[in-house]
Amino acid sequence: MASHPIGVFDSGYGGLTVFRSIASLLPQYDYLYLGDNARAPYGNRSFETVHQYTLECVEWFFKMGCPLVILACNTASAKALRTIQQQDLQHIGPDKRVLGVIRPTAEVIGTYSQTKSVGVLGTKGTVNSDSYKLEINKFSPEIRVHQKACPMWVPMVEYGEYESDGADYFVKKYLDELLTNAPDIDTILLACTHYPLLIDKIKKYLPDGIKIVSQGPIVAESLEGYLERHSEIESKISKNGNIHFYTTDDTMDFDSHASVFFAGKVTSQHLHL
Ligand code: DGL
Repeated sequence: MASHPIGVFDSGYGGLTVFRSIASLLPQYDYLYLGDNARAPYGNRSFETVHQYTLECVEWFFKMGCPLVILACNTASAKALRTIQQQDLQHIGPDKRVLGVIRPTAEVIGTYSQTKSVGVLGTKGTVNSDSYKLEINKFSPEIRVHQKACPMWVPMVEYGEYESDGADYFVKKYLDELLTNAPDIDTILLACTHYPLLIDKIKKYLPDGIKIVSQGPIVAESLEGYLERHSEIESKISKNGNIHFYTTDDTMDFDSHASVFFAGKVTSQHLHL
């Protein structure tokens, strides 16, 4: 039976925090997850590089039969998605779709805030692109968006230091800097796939009453709505509940890290791009 899975892409393991919400809400579909670990992290890379890497991976998903690819990576969504949707898709797959994680999150985040002041934490790439600010202001122009790049958080998580005492310093530092500039923030969006693993420490250094929002459940619900509205795409996706994982780097290393991000056993295959 031909397989036409939903492709889920990230620079590495992080997208698994989003994918686990998608797979749990929509278990009927087939999925192909690819982590480009050999070239991660993407967070500090240029627009051109993130676009080139992401495009190569999207082309691979299309060759593997995916009618739809989700960029479950904020940096790739911020720096590559628009060019792929507006320029590349017409050459590489006019009948295919590529979606990101920024728009669905930006659509709803304004509704979480009473003070109309939202903090957005992300990689340098995501923050410098201003994508969240622009997108949130389209849907909720009354919301003030305060962004903060947290460049040490991805390496801390990647090296398994997210529960260590050493991580406290950088968690507190970035949160203090954000709240000193904008003390009226009542909602903080974790706009990076890795940050949900730091949630206990983030809670520890935030004053009571500030909501912390992870994007996995938001993206999953938005995908469900998209598939309901777009039966021409939904009907092409195969529905056997199969999941296959690929990494561009070492599979043993991927599997041991990935099971933490995915909260379940992961057995990957190697992809040489
Ligand atoms: N997945 C990336 C993101 O959500 C974080 C890791 C990286 O920098 O590649 O921005």
